[in-house]
Formats: sequence, C-alpha cells, structure tokens
Amino acid sequence: MSKLLSLSRAARLAGVSRGELQKRVRKEGADTFEGKLTVEILVSLYPHIDMEKDPVLERVQRIKREARPKAHYSDGWMPDPQVLMTRLKEFQHTLVQTKSSLNASENLLNETRSNLQSALNASEEELPAEVERCIQRLSRAIDRLGRASDAKATLFAKDAMLKIVSASVRLLPSGHEFFIEGNDSILEAGLKAGLYLDYGCTGGNCGACKCKVVSGAVRKLRNHDYVLSTKEQEAGYVLACSNTAISDLVVEAGEAGMSEALPHQQIRAQVKKIELVGESLALMNVQTPRTRSLRFKAGQSVSVTTEDGRTADLYIASCPCDGRNLQFIIFKEDDVDFGDAVFDATLARQTVLLEGPKGGFVLQEDSTVPTLFLAKEGGFSPIKSLVEQAITIDNAEGLNLIHIGGNPADSSLDNLCRSWDDSLDNFSYTSTANDISADELAQLILNAATDSDRTEVYIAGPAAWLESVMDAASRNGLDTGVWYTEATDR
Ligand code: FES
Repeated sequence: MSKLLSLSRAARLAGVSRGELQKRVRKEGADTFEGKLTVEILVSLYPHIDMEKDPVLERVQRIKREARPKAHYSDGWMPDPQVLMTRLKEFQHTLVQTKSSLNASENLLNETRSNLQSALNASEEELPAEVERCIQRLSRAIDRLGRASDAKATLFAKDAMLKIVSASVRLLPSGHEFFIEGNDSILEAGLKAGLYLDYGCTGGNCGACKCKVVSGAVRKLRNHDYVLSTKEQEAGYVLACSNTAISDLVVEAGEAGMSEALPHQQIRAQVKKIELVGESLALMNVQTPRTRSLRFKAGQSVSVTTEDGRTADLYIASCPCDGRNLQFIIFKEDDVDFGDAVFDATLARQTVLLEGPKGGFVLQEDSTVPTLFLAKEGGFSPIKSLVEQAITIDNAEGLNLIHIGGNPADSSLDNLCRSWDDSLDNFSYTSTANDISADELAQLILNAATDSDRTEVYIAGPAAWLESVMDAASRNGLDTGVWYTEATDR
C-alpha cells in the first residue's frame, strides 16, 4: 500500500480544515485505513492542489514575523528568516518539477519495457516498423518529461516543505495529533491545538509536564530547575514545557480526559483591559503571570476576587488554548458590587485572585459529528469558550452557533461571531430576536441540525428559558435526552 497520511497532515496538504476533510471523506465514501488516507485518495478528493493559496504558507509568513533569531545566528552565517523562507519556496517549486520528472520517468520506463516486449512478438517483416514506433513514442515521452508536473509530486513537495517549517507530534495513548511551529515548546503547541496536556508551572520547575519521547528528536529550548534522573533521561523522558521537536515525534504524555477534574488553582492575575460592549455588557481581559497560566476546560468558571474583597463566579469566555489571557463577559446588573467595579473601570490594572476551575459543561472528547451551540444572555460566555475550543480542535464536521438576542451590533463580540462565519467553511452563525418563542426556536434548531440524529447540541442560558426550549424541542420531535445543558444565573 502507498504512503498513509494522518488526517491532520492530509488536511494541511489539501489546504482545508480537518473537519472539512472528514466531511468530504464521508460524503464521497472514500476508504480510510485506521483514520489515515493514502496519497492517491487525497489526490482523488482534491485533484487541484494549489501551492500558492496555501494556509500552511500563510502560517509560514506568520512564523517568519514571529521568528526571533537566536543569539548564535546573529553572526550573519544564516540568512534572515524572510530570505530563508523565500528560498525554501523556490526550492519547493524545484522539488515539484524534479519529483514530477521522476514519476514520469518511471512511467516511461514501464511503458518502454512493455512496448519492446510487444515488438519482440512481431514478425520479422513487422519488426523494423515496431521498433520505429517504439522510438517515436520514446521521443514524444522524453519531450514531455521536462514539462511534467503532477498532483502527487505537488503533494510530495508540500509535505517536504511542511516538515521543514513544522514537526508533527502524535500523543500516546490518546492518538491526538498536533503540529509544532515557530519556537513553540511541545507543551505550548499542544495547548494551542486545544489539548488538555498535563502541566503545572510552564517554566521547568514542577515536572508535571514530564513526557516520554518514543520516537523522533527533540531540542532543549531552555535550561530547567526540575531535575530528571539519569534513568529517566536514558528512558527518553523530557519536559514538554522546555523542549521542542526537531523531527516528527511520538510522545507518551498525560492528558486530562473530559470527565477528569483539573487541579484546583489559585492564581493572582492582572486586569489588563476593560472594554464596554454596548450599554450593559463589558469584556474584562485578565492576564496571569508569565510563569503561571490557568488550566481550565472550555465551558468552566472560576471565582474572581478583587483586592477590596468583591467576589463573583464567572464563566471564562475564552479558549483554554491560551491559559494566560482570559476573557470574561460581565453583565451590568449582575453581582452588583463586582459589576460596578468593572463598569466604572475601578478594576482596570488591579490584581484579582482567580480560584478554580469548576463546572462540567465541557466538550465531548474527540467528537467528530456536527455540533450545534445555542446561547442566551449569560449562557453566551461558556458557549463562546466551547466554540473557540471546537474551532481550535477542528474535529467536528460542522459548527453551528445560534445566539438568542445576539451581541450589540458592530461590537467586537458581534464582529467575532461574524468573522467565524465568514472565514470558516464549516461554521454557521445566526443571531435571533431576543423574544423568539420556544417553538420558533425548536423549528430553527430542526432546520439548522438537518442531520439531527448525528448532531451534538450544547445549550446554555437562564434556567426558565432553558426549560421552555427543552420542552418545545421535545414537542417538535427532537431527542433532548442527549443534549448538554448549562443553566446560568441570567
Ligand atoms: S510545566 Fe512545570 S516543569 Fe513543565
């Protein structure tokens, strides 16, 4: 069998999301082998691989911008990242040509062998004409060699390029996969991919991110205080927070499962920015210290206490893939004391104490089915976090967000939801009037979840509203027994 590609790598080569590729595979009934695809099947699904309009190359541009030359590169023996990437791009084109020529040469040799074989069977009188025909075919094929370019060669060249700019990591025993780009550590890249990898300090002090490299090569990014025993080092253990990958890796690492509680944490963090969204909403951005990010799952909450003792339990509205920069959505009427401090900007630049996380309204693990998110008022915070996590993991075939009442028009939250809809092939966003009836909403869900038997539904909002929606959905024939719900205070 020809080379097998993991879904993550195949999606990157085709320039589509993993969810989009999964949908295509299912729709076309394409064969997969333990979740992997052959190059031939990928080419048959996406025959026109475009090297220029390639999200991988766009990411390369970002990496170039973020690239910080190391001290030992500053003596000028290496070209700057911009020059290096341009040369690599040129090299990619050369590689396509070369690989295409090689493929075509292989075909030509096989063709010539079979032509000569048939010439051998010709009668003596026909032999010169047969040989003449062989020579003519050979000449035409040689002419074509220089112009050869095929989809398989393009894939090969893109794969080679990918391996230069990023390494893939496969985790055991989960089988989760992600890519390491730029100067990210294994831990940073895993968290950015939306995985709940085990870690503590992120700075090489606690040893909680210890993992075993089963295959591939790593490079230490920084010295660390935590000491690995000689036996551990010999067995291939490294700290995920202090190492990056040189080649593709297979790593045994601890991950928190969906139902597994994360450690209770207490972290002092700073309120970086308060942004008013319309008249009754505010976005509060909080940043933890560089060496201490908050481990949480999408959909969970923390208790936030101000320096003067005001406390509120708040859902984290941002993605757990960034545990340092947290976002909270505050309603003016709620937790009056706390809300006042947000709306009159007293809290800006203050230190707050975060305690948690808590709550079990989290994404189902490794689910690939279409997913529908439904939010009203306070329910938008956990739903926003779930949506961001689902986009990051990129497992679901399709994502559908319905926001009752929506966000204030042209606000950053409104623009964010619309940008998801605009930029993601498999994302759909609808905002409705605030007073939409439960039955109308049930109909909207039925329309949105055309494949309702396979759709996973997450719904969050005020308790009474939640109850009325569940009743109406059941009356309209939807199986609400499998829905995941969260009743919020408002
Ligand atoms: S997270 Fe603490 S040592 Fe890596």
